[in-house]
Amino acid sequence: MGEAAHDILIIGGGPGGYTAALKAAMMGAKTVLIEKDQVGGTCLNRGCIPTKALLQSAERYQEAKGSSAYGVRAENVALDMKKVDAFRKRSVKTLVKGIEYLINARKVELVRGEASFRDAKTVLVHKADGTEEELTAKNIIIAAGSEVSFPPIPGIRGRGVITSTEALECETLPESMVIIGGGVIGVEIATAYAAFGVKITILEAMDSLLPNIDREVSAEFKSLVKGRFKVFTGARVEEILDREEGGKIVKYTLEGEEKEVSADKVLVCIGRKPSIEGLGLERAGVQTERGRVLVDENFKTSADGIYCIGDANGKCMLAHAAAAQGKIVVTRLLGEECGIDPDLVSSCIYTDPEIASVGISEEQAKAAGLAYKAGKFNFAANGRSMILGKRTGFVKMIAEAESGRVLGVHMIGPCATELIAECALAIKMKCTVTDIADTIHAHPTVSEAVEEAAESLLGGAIDMI
Ligand code: NAI
Repeated sequence: MGEAAHDILIIGGGPGGYTAALKAAMMGAKTVLIEKDQVGGTCLNRGCIPTKALLQSAERYQEAKGSSAYGVRAENVALDMKKVDAFRKRSVKTLVKGIEYLINARKVELVRGEASFRDAKTVLVHKADGTEEELTAKNIIIAAGSEVSFPPIPGIRGRGVITSTEALECETLPESMVIIGGGVIGVEIATAYAAFGVKITILEAMDSLLPNIDREVSAEFKSLVKGRFKVFTGARVEEILDREEGGKIVKYTLEGEEKEVSADKVLVCIGRKPSIEGLGLERAGVQTERGRVLVDENFKTSADGIYCIGDANGKCMLAHAAAAQGKIVVTRLLGEECGIDPDLVSSCIYTDPEIASVGISEEQAKAAGLAYKAGKFNFAANGRSMILGKRTGFVKMIAEAESGRVLGVHMIGPCATELIAECALAIKMKCTVTDIADTIHAHPTVSEAVEEAAESLLGGAIDMI
C-alpha cells in the first residue's frame, strides 16, 4: 500500500468531528472531514442549538406576558409560531455557516458524502451524485454520532408519533402532546411547548423525572413544574393507538393499573443509540459492543490507527464531551500532551429553572462509601435572583469530609448552566470549599450563590439561616 494521502481523516462533522478537524488542521495536520449532511451534526441541526432557540422564544413570550410587575406594560402579547420557527432556522443556519467558514479558513478538506471503511486505512465516500471517492489516511477518527432509539412498543412508528427532530420544527403546534421519556429531551421540549400553551403529559418509566441526576434536584424540579405539565413516573407504556377523531391514545400501566391518555401528538424520547450501521466497521477490524464502538482510555478502537469519539462510542452522549474527546485524540496523535479530563463533564439541562451539575452526586458519594459533607444555598436568599424574578432552586455542593475538596456541585435555578463552569474548574483544579468561599464573587450576582454554598460547608452561609 502506498503512502496515505492524509494525516487524519474524520468521519462525521458534528461537534466531535468538526472540533477534531479544526484542531488537527491548526496543529498542521493534513486533514479531511467527511459529512453526509450539514456540518454541525445533531447538536447544531436537530438538537442542542434549535432546542435553545425554541426555549429562548418560549422564555421571551413568558417574560413579555409577566412584565407588568417590572413596570412594563405589554399588551396583546401573542405568539407567531412561523416566526418562532424562522428564528430557529436562522440560528441554525448562522452557526452552520460559521463552521463552514472555519473549515474553509483552516484548510480542512470537506468531502460531502457517506463514508464506509474499505479497510483499516481506506475509506470510501458515496456521494449524492452517485460517484465514489476513495480516501486514505494514517489515522482515522470515527465521529458518526447517534440516532433516536425506539423501544419495542406496538404503534411507536405510527403517524403522529414524532421524535425531537419533528418537535423542533413547530410552525404549527398541537393542542396536546404526550411525551414518552422524562429524560433530558423530554423535559426541555416540555418546557418550551408548555410555555407555548400546549397541554403536556410526560410518561416516565423510572420512579422520578430526570432519573439520572441528583435526587434532590430532580425532586425540586418535579415540584416546580407541577401545574405546568402532568407527570406520571413509574409508568410503563404498553401500546400507542390511533384516536378515532385524529390524534393518538397511549395505553400505559401505573402501579399495576391499566390507564390511557390521549393527545394530538406523541413525542418519543427514551434515549439515543450510536449511529454506526453501514460504516463497514468489520472490514476495518473495529470491534463493537452492545451497539457502540469499543474504545480504550485514549479513545482508540481495536484497530490500530482508528479512534472513535462522541456518541458513537456511547461513553457520554453530550456535544461538549465529544468535542473534548476530539481534542484529546488529535492533540495526542500529533505528539503533544492534553490535560483535558474526559470524565469531568458538566451536564446542563435548559429547563425553567435551569439545571446543571458536575462531579459526583450525593447518591454516588453514598454508594462509593465516601466520607463526604453536603451543603446548600437557596437562590431565594440571593439578591440578584430576587430582582430577576427567579428565586427558586438551590446550589448543592458535595465535598470530601476531611479535606473539604469539592467533589460535585448540583444546582437548579437561574443561570445554573453558566455557573457550573466555575464549579467544573474548581473540581479540575482540586479546589476545596475554602478556596471557593475565599474567592470574592461580585455583588449583586447570581454567582454569589456558589460562594455561599461553599460557606454553608464552613460554618454557615452568611445570608441564609
Ligand atoms: P435520556 O436518556 O436523557 O432520557 C430517556 C428517559 O426515558 C429516561 O428517563 C428513561 O428512564 C426513560 N424511558 C426509557 N424507556 C422508557 C419507556 N419505554 N417509557 C417511558 N420512559 C422510558 O434520553 P433523551 O432525553 O432521549 O436524550 C437523548 C440523549 O441526548 C441523551 O444522551 C442526552 O444526554 C442528550 N441530550 C442532552 C441534552 C443536554 O445536555 N441539555 C439535551 C437533549 C439531549
